[in-house]
Amino acid sequence: MRHDQIREGRLSGDRSTQIAHYLSSMEADHKIASADLFVDMAHLAMLSRQELIGDDHAKLLAAALLRMYTDGIPKEAFDERFEDIHAGIEGELIAEVGKEAGGRLHLARSRNDEVATCLRIRVREDILRILTSLSSLRGVLIHLAEEHSGTVMPGFTHLQHAQPTTLAHHLLAYEEAFSRDAERLSDAYRRVNRSPLGAAAFASTGFPIDRDLTKKLLGFDELSGNSMDAVSGRDFALETLSALTVMMTAVSRFCEELILWSSAFVRFVDLDDMYCSTSSIMPQKKNPDCAEIMRGHAGTVAGAFQAAVICVKGLPMSYNRDLQTLTPHLWNGISHASASIEILSGMIQTALFNRERMLEESDKGFSTATELADTLVREYGLPFRTAHNIVGRAVRSGEITLATVEEAGHEMAGISLLEKGLTEERIRRALDPSEVVAAKNVPGGPAEGVIRDAIRLRSRVLADDNEMIIMRERTIKMAEEELVSMMRRMAGE
Ligand code: ARG
Repeated sequence: MRHDQIREGRLSGDRSTQIAHYLSSMEADHKIASADLFVDMAHLAMLSRQELIGDDHAKLLAAALLRMYTDGIPKEAFDERFEDIHAGIEGELIAEVGKEAGGRLHLARSRNDEVATCLRIRVREDILRILTSLSSLRGVLIHLAEEHSGTVMPGFTHLQHAQPTTLAHHLLAYEEAFSRDAERLSDAYRRVNRSPLGAAAFASTGFPIDRDLTKKLLGFDELSGNSMDAVSGRDFALETLSALTVMMTAVSRFCEELILWSSAFVRFVDLDDMYCSTSSIMPQKKNPDCAEIMRGHAGTVAGAFQAAVICVKGLPMSYNRDLQTLTPHLWNGISHASASIEILSGMIQTALFNRERMLEESDKGFSTATELADTLVREYGLPFRTAHNIVGRAVRSGEITLATVEEAGHEMAGISLLEKGLTEERIRRALDPSEVVAAKNVPGGPAEGVIRDAIRLRSRVLADDNEMIIMRERTIKMAEEELVSMMRRMAGE
């Protein structure tokens, strides 16, 4: 059984299992174990280049790190008697190559800069993965919008039928929201991808290390400068969780609509069975469980963000162990947000939208009345408020016909619209939901032509975003490959 090599000098006695478990971050550290290997490799390469470690020792360490890289980190390294994976891997290295070589790797660094570096490596990967999923979701929405540019449906305000629109318009509303979420995450990435390595405990080190070299070897774009800030700052985590929290509000609203739309009252959508469950007692039930769980997890992610904010807000400079308690919230928020986006894509892609039901509802509740008021303005020169009052009064009578509109004209404005040339046929056309939609052809509106423009624009934005993701992935991958081949050379392989 390995022991905790860090405790040996200063402290007496072994910890009880309970205390060891209480203190250890091992459970959450599974996420950063592979990142820690890269950090070890980069640090070793730098120590060697700076002649802070001899070639023989470096060779042994490089070979041991490569073994863990190819065969996996031995499970002993994950024993909770180690406070964390950093201590676990160091323990493993010492056990493998002896203290004379293994005890030399932790020169000029601390677990404080080590953990901050590992977290940033994982978070940047997670951000890129979520951005990729967001891109597929946006692609699905754009594709469906193409298919449904003529699918007329009711639009709502206050959840009351308001004005007709199209399904394409509705779906593109979500696409635009998700594209801003991608913008936020992509912007956060710039501040995530900075290297804290070399800050050591907080005060940096008296050894002539090369921070720029480890930065480059680990694929970071910049240094996180001030060494005190580098180990104590977790705003990169807060920023990521906050962007995910905002993203999950859009996810949750979409889910809310899918739940509503799949109810027997509405029947706008039929979700694929894959995303639904049934009841243990009511054999007829088909429940939209995925959408409900997802709506619930918008709360999980917001909760993770809040827990992280509260963890940080009262901490004095610089590193405090409390920061360890933030990490599980970070992983929790990320994993729920990431799974939600992936599943949402599939759920939308496989959903069957009911065009007939949507059309049927599209003029319910006098939802085309605004267009009639607009027509009275356009064709008979009435002030909008007068037209609004006349149509409102006709609605109050229970139906919009030439007779009720004419009577309302007399009542509200003392005019005869009949005399001005209003006909039953003109009213009927103004109230036709397809005509209403076709009239809304300003940029951002639902008319088919502008929707086609929007689809072109959104596809272009999406393609640019995808290019950025690929570029960042490539930078990381190239740095990793370079680092590993450097280790191979060092190990004499
Ligand atoms: N496991 C710690 C964390 O997650 C990093 C180690 C710092 N430990 C220390 N005693 N300074 O934050």
